[in-house]
Amino acid sequence: MQVVHAKKIEKIVVLGTGGTIAGTAASASDHTGYTAGQLGVQHLLDAIPGLNDTLQGAALVCEQVAQLDSKDMDHATWQMLAQRCSHWLAQPDVGGIVITHGTDTLEETAWFLQQVLPSSKPVVLTCAMRPATALMPDGPQNLLDAMALVCDSIAQGVWVVCAGQIHSARAVQKVHPYRLDAFSSGEAGAAGWVEQGQVRWSSPSKAPELAPHPNLQRALGIPVADWPWVEVLHSHTGADGRRVRALVAAGVKGLVVAGTGNGTVHQSLLTELAEAQAQGVQVCLVSRCAEGQIVGQPAMLKMAPSGLNAYKARIGLMLDLMT
Ligand code: SIN
Repeated sequence: MQVVHAKKIEKIVVLGTGGTIAGTAASASDHTGYTAGQLGVQHLLDAIPGLNDTLQGAALVCEQVAQLDSKDMDHATWQMLAQRCSHWLAQPDVGGIVITHGTDTLEETAWFLQQVLPSSKPVVLTCAMRPATALMPDGPQNLLDAMALVCDSIAQGVWVVCAGQIHSARAVQKVHPYRLDAFSSGEAGAAGWVEQGQVRWSSPSKAPELAPHPNLQRALGIPVADWPWVEVLHSHTGADGRRVRALVAAGVKGLVVAGTGNGTVHQSLLTELAEAQAQGVQVCLVSRCAEGQIVGQPAMLKMAPSGLNAYKARIGLMLDLMT
C-alpha cells in the first residue's frame, strides 16, 4: 500500500504503550486468550511488509513509553506520554506522532492528550482488536492508516484511527468488546476514513478544535501524586448515597456523576452530593446515555461540557482542579 503524502514529512515518531496491538497468544486462532502489551513497538513496525517504501523517505523513530494492558492505564503513564509527545512535537523535523495503545481506555488517553498538547501537529492513536500473533491481525493495517493520517495536510491535534475510520478525540468511544471496528463517534459520525493510504474527511467542518486546557503545564509538570482525586459515580436503580460519603471521607476532590437519561440523579445520591458540594467537593453531571447530551438543567449540579462521556468529563474536572 502506498501512503499518499499530502505534505512532505521528514520524520514520524511512533510511541508504544502496549495493548492488544502488541499482544501475543499461544495460538493464531485465539483472539481472546492472549496477553496484551508483549511486543515492542519496533517489533510491530518490523512486521509491516514494505513499510519503508510506503513512507516515501520519511524517517521513523520509535520509543517504548510503556508496555501495559490499557485497562491498567494510570496518570503517571499519561504524564510521561504527554511529556514525550511535547518533546517530539517541538522538534522542527517531526511531522507528527503515532501512538500504539490498547483499545480499552484509548478514548480517555486521546482526550487527555487533546487537552494538554498545544501543538497543531497531528497525534494519532491506533490500536488493534486482535493480537499480533493472530492469523489475520488488524494492527499492521491500523498502523499504516495512522501514518497516512499523520501525513495528511489538514490533520492537526489528536485523532484515533481504527478499522479504516478516523474519530476525533472528543467523540470517540469504544462500543464493542470484540469486533474489529470497535469504535464509534456516535451521533457525530466518523470524521473521515483512510482508504488505500488516502485520507477522506467526511466534511471540512469536522476539523478538530485545538483548545488546550489552561492547566496543561501543571498536568505535564506536577507529580501525579498531587493530581486531584476525581471519581466517576453512576446513578442507577437502588443507588446508595453512602458511596458519596465514603469517598468524601477518604478525601476525594471531585465527582463526576453519570445521571440517568437527561441527567436525572437518584434522590439518595442527590442528597449526599449536595452535602459533598457544601464541603467543597466539585461535582459535575453528565448523562450515562451512549448518545446525545443533556438538554436544559435537570439537576442542581454543574454540568460537564456538552456531550462528553463520564470518563472524559473526569479528565476535564481533574485538570480544572490542578491549581
Ligand atoms: C488493552 O486495552 O490494552 C487490551 C484490549 C485491547 O487493546 O483491545
